[in-house]
Amino acid sequence: DTMTSRVPARVAAGSGTPRQSVLSRPPNRASRSPQTTRPRHQASPMLAIIGGTGLTRLSTLAVTHRQVIRTPYGEPSAALVFGELAGHRAIFLARHGHGHTIPPHRVNYRANLWALKEQGASCIVAIASVGAIRGCAPGDLVLPHQLIDYTWGRAHTFFDGGDQQVVHVDFTHPDSQRLRAICLAGARHGSIAMRDGGVYGAVSGPRLETTAEIDRMDRDGATLVGMTGMPEAVLAREVGVDYASVCVVVNHAAGRGDSVANVSMETIGNVLESAMDRVRELIPHI
Ligand code: HPA
Repeated sequence: DTMTSRVPARVAAGSGTPRQSVLSRPPNRASRSPQTTRPRHQASPMLAIIGGTGLTRLSTLAVTHRQVIRTPYGEPSAALVFGELAGHRAIFLARHGHGHTIPPHRVNYRANLWALKEQGASCIVAIASVGAIRGCAPGDLVLPHQLIDYTWGRAHTFFDGGDQQVVHVDFTHPDSQRLRAICLAGARHGSIAMRDGGVYGAVSGPRLETTAEIDRMDRDGATLVGMTGMPEAVLAREVGVDYASVCVVVNHAAGRGDSVANVSMETIGNVLESAMDRVRELIPHI
């Protein structure tokens, strides 16, 4: 067995067997590792939403309870909020904390992913605000299909050596193709415009990029730039939870469009507010 006692379940890559809907599939079976915590809600699959900047609360979630979770990796960004979303059980987690005080490089991504897995999440839709490099504009919602990781210095794996076997997870398709299809269908159903496809360039931040850095990312093929996509996506893969990221474009990246002289924080705030209303509308359709 390649799993460790610290990881909540065996690696079961999210891109495996084809499945029909977010709620049609039983959650991953409990780990074969005897020391692993068994997810508490094995009866029915459960959607988790990780809310980013501009989405620290989910008004469409009928909250049943909140729970502070401790993990072997420390505390998640906030208490998990449990409730019902369009008649199904769901969990919400505010990535930057309820008061939006945790910057992207300080988010405890491992604790967040471990907690969601341990509490029974079988798929995760992660909301993230991004800058536009190419092919999209402020106000757009984009469902990326690929990513490039430029982050550094983050705790980026559960497979961190010690007494564990060496593990290499497959990451050919970083976002779950099944969950992407469900998000696209949900957007269509809710008549919410969402671009299908994009390459998310993950940077460490918290500063924004230079024009030359954005030019380099553009040459690499990145079409979006954001600060939280990694290691979040790979940690979801490592614990075997389907993951898809819904990106909210809030500005032209540095040196592009109306960000040639500078990136305006004021504009970002305004775009964020109206775009997040559409994300709130979208989520119950997923
Ligand atoms: N760069 C990096 N992260 C971001 C940006 C950006 O321009 N906009 C929103 N998140």
